[in-house]
Amino acid sequence: MALPSPQTRGAYTLTNLTSSIPLPQLNALFSQPDFHWGKPLSVPQLQKLLNNSICFAILTDQQEIVGFGRMITDHVTVAYINDIYIKQSHRNKGLASWMLECMDEALSSMPDLRGTIMIAERGSGAERLYKAILGMEELGGRDVLLDRKGRGAVE
Ligand SMILES: CC(C)(COP(=O)(O)OP(=O)(O)OC[C@H]1O[C@@H](n2cnc3c(N)ncnc32)[C@H](O)[C@@H]1OP(=O)(O)O)[C@@H](O)C(=O)NCCC(=O)NCCS
Repeated sequence: MALPSPQTRGAYTLTNLTSSIPLPQLNALFSQPDFHWGKPLSVPQLQKLLNNSICFAILTDQQEIVGFGRMITDHVTVAYINDIYIKQSHRNKGLASWMLECMDEALSSMPDLRGTIMIAERGSGAERLYKAILGMEELGGRDVLLDRKGRGAVE
């Protein structure tokens, strides 16, 4: 999968380099009340999560992480996008749209990709954004998306 090189927009840089992600700050994002599907993790768990994902982090020129999202993929046929989050004070500036456009570019470099999955709250701005930028659609027809909660699931 070809990843876009680090890009800048004004004071923001979008990067796939996990080494540029400050772990305590990422954990601070994971602990926000509206990061309602997740929770803070130990440093070794965070490191494992980052190492096994393609990460899209948005940093300010002060190296503060204000946006995060990641993709889990076999690099050939399937991809799962999750943990999209923009820090509250940096919302509505097009940062999530920019991140999704970069994800779209990465996905477009996979000629044998069968599909991409993501989960959004019904009727949310995120659902509208994913449909508009990535062309995501509700799974329909004869197919159903199944889910099994794990021990780390947040109520
Ligand atoms: C959802 C979220 C990632 C959006 O981040 P953002 O950087 O503010 O997004 P953008 O500035 O690119 O777009 C903002 C708004 O414009 C809307 N928008 C942008 N481009 C759009 C388009 N082309 N078509 C339709 N709507 C669009 C978005 O739906 C969003 O609407 P909202 O006001 O209802 O939230 C952010 O609000 C967030 O982190 N929320 C909390 C966590 C969350 O819900 N994450 C998604 C988990 S599935």
